[in-house]
This record gives sequence, structure tokens and C-alpha cells, in this order.
Amino acid sequence: MYTANPTRYADMQYRRCGLSGVLLPALSLGFWHNFGQVTPEEQSRAIARAAFDAGITHFDLANNYGPDPGAAELRLGRMLQDDFKPHRDELFIATKAAYDMWDGPYGSWASRKHLIASLDQSLSRLRLNYVDLFYCHRYDPQTPLEETLQTLVDIVRAGKALYIGLSRWPLQAAKRGYEYLRQHDVPCLIYQGRLNLFDQAPIHEGTLNAAANAGAGFIAFSPLAQGLLTDRYLNGIPADSRIAHDPRFLKAEALTPQMLTRIQALNDLAAQRGESLAAMALAWILHHQQVTSVIIGASSPQQLRRNLSCLQSPPFTDEEIERLNNIVA
Ligand SMILES: NC(=O)c1ccc[n+]([C@@H]2O[C@H](COP(=O)([O-])OP(=O)(O)OC[C@H]3O[C@@H](n4cnc5c(N)ncnc54)[C@H](OP(=O)(O)O)[C@@H]3O)[C@@H](O)[C@H]2O)c1
Repeated sequence: MYTANPTRYADMQYRRCGLSGVLLPALSLGFWHNFGQVTPEEQSRAIARAAFDAGITHFDLANNYGPDPGAAELRLGRMLQDDFKPHRDELFIATKAAYDMWDGPYGSWASRKHLIASLDQSLSRLRLNYVDLFYCHRYDPQTPLEETLQTLVDIVRAGKALYIGLSRWPLQAAKRGYEYLRQHDVPCLIYQGRLNLFDQAPIHEGTLNAAANAGAGFIAFSPLAQGLLTDRYLNGIPADSRIAHDPRFLKAEALTPQMLTRIQALNDLAAQRGESLAAMALAWILHHQQVTSVIIGASSPQQLRRNLSCLQSPPFTDEEIERLNNIVA
């Protein structure tokens, strides 16, 4: 029997998502890894409880998170029944569709057929009547943009999602999306893109500013570059790490001598600032004012709690920003 921490809202920061009425926690929890069948269910449950107990009210899922695809939603569905039932309205739950989910011509991409069928399946796995946020997970160059966007509008009209988000859409398509959604009175709540010290494309390509100009928030995924921006790999590849147990997504080849030199230099800078590399990496993302939240992954409650320390990070000096940029250049 789970009893939520009564002081869970004391220390988390909540940031307004674009021009909307929604506040999101500075740190959100992602369910891509550690919530599938390869992870003991009690471990997943402990991570989700630790997050909620720390004021992390936003859980980020997708139809295909697992393994197997759908497993993460099934797990959260059980937790919503067992642990979080009295707290449903304290939670902001997102799911997505458009990546490969089931066999045949309707199991992927962003047609009306796929998006609506997939969301119905997600709601059933999650045991929810609606999600707070539904994303089109990727841009579909074959489906007319209007078909995808009108479907997102209709999903909100049907009460299956409260808000709409776009993830990994190229800049020009995202801009057309913001415009269409605004014109149809369902403004895009948020854009989800990869942003971390090693991948600053959303800053340089204008994605961050475009979202802000459209009144949408921005949420960063893989903020720790899947664990590279921590001390995890400084002394080899631990047996319980993502590289060791899930090399499909993070490969040992990523640990080149040049990459290890950069990680070590970042780790040294973080130590001079009196914090961990993970905390510094998260704080660096959050110091961009267009960013609403970062979606962290965690393989244990302890890891998640350690990452909360980024909320106490000292502000960056101009000299530190210059050093950071030189290290990752
Ligand atoms: N929209 C999209 O297309 C998309 C794509 C990718 C992800 N996402 C979302 O973003 C979420 C986060 O992605 P991510 O898991 O790649 O995020 P991440 O925060 O960059 O990486 C998380 C991993 O880093 C390691 N880690 C975390 N904190 C650590 C610490 N303090 N010390 C050492 N290692 C630490 C853990 O890996 P170990 O297993 O090694 O412990 C953890 O599972 C996903 O769950 C998903 O919700 C969205």
C-alpha cells in the first residue's frame, strides 16, 4: 500500500508551459526504458513512486515504450489503479503515436487511422478515459499534413486528450503545425525534442525559439544523452548500465577516446561547481528560458533522487558557459 509523501510539492519547481494554463515540473519522468518486461515491476513502481513523491507530476510515455511495445503503458495502468488512483488529477500523463506499433499498413506513421486507433489502444492499456497530452511522435512525410493535424484537433474535441504536442517534427513542418492548430483553437501545448550538452541542434536550428514564438513550451528528451552525461562510463561499462543491457539504443562505440575526454572535462567542471555532472547537465538545459521541463530516465529511485539536485545548481557564469561550449564543440 503506497502513501504519497505529504511534502511532495515543497521543493519541485513548476514552470508555465508556453502561453498555456499548464504548469509542468522542471523534471519529468520518462517511461522509455526501465518500465518494460525486462525490468522487475517492483523496480519500475519504486521509480514512479520516488518521482511522484518528489513532486514530479508529469509522466512521459508512448504507445511503443516497452519492451514489448505497450508494456510501459500497461505498467503505468496498473500503478494508476494500485498507487496513484487518488492522485489522478495531480498527474499530467502524456502518450504518443506514429512509430511502428503493430503489423500492417495502419500500425505506424501519422494517418488518421493510425493515430486514433493507437490512442484508443493506449487509453485501454493505461485504463484512462483521456490522457492529458497526446503527441504526434514524428512527422510523416507521406500523409497530408492537414490530415494529421485535423486528427489531433479531433482527438481533443472527442475528449481523448486535453492537449496536443509535436515531437521530432522538422522546423518548417512544426511551424505549419503550430499555425494550423492555433487556427483550429487547439494550440500546440509543447514541442518535444532531444536537447542536451552534446546535442544542441534545437538551439542552433531555431526549434526552441520557434516553439516559444508559437506560444508552445519545449520539453527536452534524453537530457543526459542516455547516461553519457553522467559519471556512469568514466571507469568502464558497468554491467547494469544501458550500454551493457540495451545496446540497441546506446552503443559501446559511442565511448570513443574523444568522447571520454569530453565527459572527463565536463565532470571536472561540475566538480569545481560543487555538483555532479548529471546535475550540471540538467541545470544547463533548464537555464534556457524557453525550456519548460527535462524528461529524465532513471533506472533506480536513488538515481532519480540524485538528479533532483540540479534544482539547487548554482547559476552559470559567462566563463563557465564558454568553457562548456569549448569542451563540447
Ligand atoms: N520523443 C522522442 O522521440 C523520445 C526519444 C527518446 C526519449 N524520449 C523520452 O525521454 C525520456 C528520457 O530519455 P532517456 O532515458 O534517454 O534520458 P536520459 O536522462 O538522457 O538518460 C537516462 C539514463 O541515464 C542514466 N542515468 C540517469 N541518471 C543518472 C545518474 N545520476 N548517474 C548515472 N547514470 C544516470 C540511466 O541509465 P542506466 O540504465 O545506465 O542506469 C538512465 O536510464 C524517455 O523515457 C522518453 O520518455 C522521447
